[in-house]
Amino acid sequence: MNKILVIFGTRPEAIKMCPLVRELQSRERIRAVVCVTGQHRQLLDSVLDDFGVRADYDLDIMRDGQSLFDVTSEVLCGIRGVVEAEKPSLVLVHGDTTTAFAASLACFYLKVPVAHIEAGLRTHDIMSPYPEEFNRRAIGAVAKFHFAPTETAKQNLLAEGVDDSRIFVTGNTVIDAVKHTVVDNFAHPLLDWAAGNRIVIITSHRRESAGEPMRAMLGAVRRVIEAHHDVRAICPVHPNPEVCECVTSVLGGCDEIALTSPLPVAEFHNLLARSYLVLTDSGGVQEEASALGKPTVVMREVTERTEGVESGNLLLSGTDSTKIADELSELLDSSEKYARSASRSCAFGDGTASRRIADIIEKMM
Ligand code: UD1
Ligand code: UDP
Repeated sequence: MNKILVIFGTRPEAIKMCPLVRELQSRERIRAVVCVTGQHRQLLDSVLDDFGVRADYDLDIMRDGQSLFDVTSEVLCGIRGVVEAEKPSLVLVHGDTTTAFAASLACFYLKVPVAHIEAGLRTHDIMSPYPEEFNRRAIGAVAKFHFAPTETAKQNLLAEGVDDSRIFVTGNTVIDAVKHTVVDNFAHPLLDWAAGNRIVIITSHRRESAGEPMRAMLGAVRRVIEAHHDVRAICPVHPNPEVCECVTSVLGGCDEIALTSPLPVAEFHNLLARSYLVLTDSGGVQEEASALGKPTVVMREVTERTEGVESGNLLLSGTDSTKIADELSELLDSSEKYARSASRSCAFGDGTASRRIADIIEKMM
């Protein structure tokens, strides 16, 4: 039996790894062991519950106000023990979090092969997103196998000298997750609250925007929403204390905006599927919104999801509050502009990425 150790620790990794874990666990020739770092706690546990995935190891590292030093050192030393105990043939890490970076560094020190899921995304600006662009490049340097979601991601890796034979284009497993969660018959109190209005979904949590930039961006968004009487906005607030304070103080106390706790992923996906448009600085939400055909204002200076810009779904506004307000107003006021961004895109995958990845891993074993 070939033992695969799957490591993740935050909400976005869990949403994108759980479909793969389920697929691997259905294969007879593979034994998939799951280790969560607990870099996130409530956000992570909620996803594990939604997908029915059980962790074999839980490092439980999250602390309020944890720094990058805390997360890196706790994960590095914690993963060492798990890898030494399990002696896996291959370790899977995902994306660009500090969990993924420190876990792949531990595997490098122990000379255990790493496969990188969602490999090859690049903004080519090491400070944005911070520290994720560094994390994903460092994981790329360590990984033996690269599961790239798109052809663009593969080209990024080839340009860095990665051997073609080690790169596999599979689509993004987040689309598998959306296929699992989105249903036809969905009811929710927030849908009742917004009935008869256009729904705008807002998420914002990026480290490099926290503080004044985020305050200015969300302030501009609030003004546009207040000026449109047929719009209701839903904003699940990220539990990062700095983000939470900022979002609550800027968007709170407005009848047209519902601030909520982070939503279970199935609820979030179904609300997204019924929304009119999206404002976000999230990575995963850009992919999900594109797949669901939702025009999305990306409140960031750069995106590594350029496929969504090319398909027209993603409108990269930058972080300037005037530009964000203009983009949002135009989408709300111009049906022509709206229609250009509202087609469903397969740019990020077709919902079969987990199966493809598991097939390749099974063949390699
Ligand atoms: C992390 C990832 C980022 C990803 C984001 C997704 C890194 C460096 N950053 O950033 O790439 O986009 O997760 O959400 O890995 N907290 C809770 N409960 C939770 C989760 C977080 O209370 O379930 C609070 C804690 O106070 C924690 C803080 O949020 O200290 C920050 O969490 P952390 O994982 O360090 O950074 P994120 O900003 O969430
Ligand atoms: N998400 C969720 N509940 C929410 C808000 C977001 O489940 O209330 C999901 C969303 O569907 C996406 C993921 O969280 O898959 C994105 O996580 P986040 O924005 O925290 O991280 P990023 O993708 O930017 O790394």
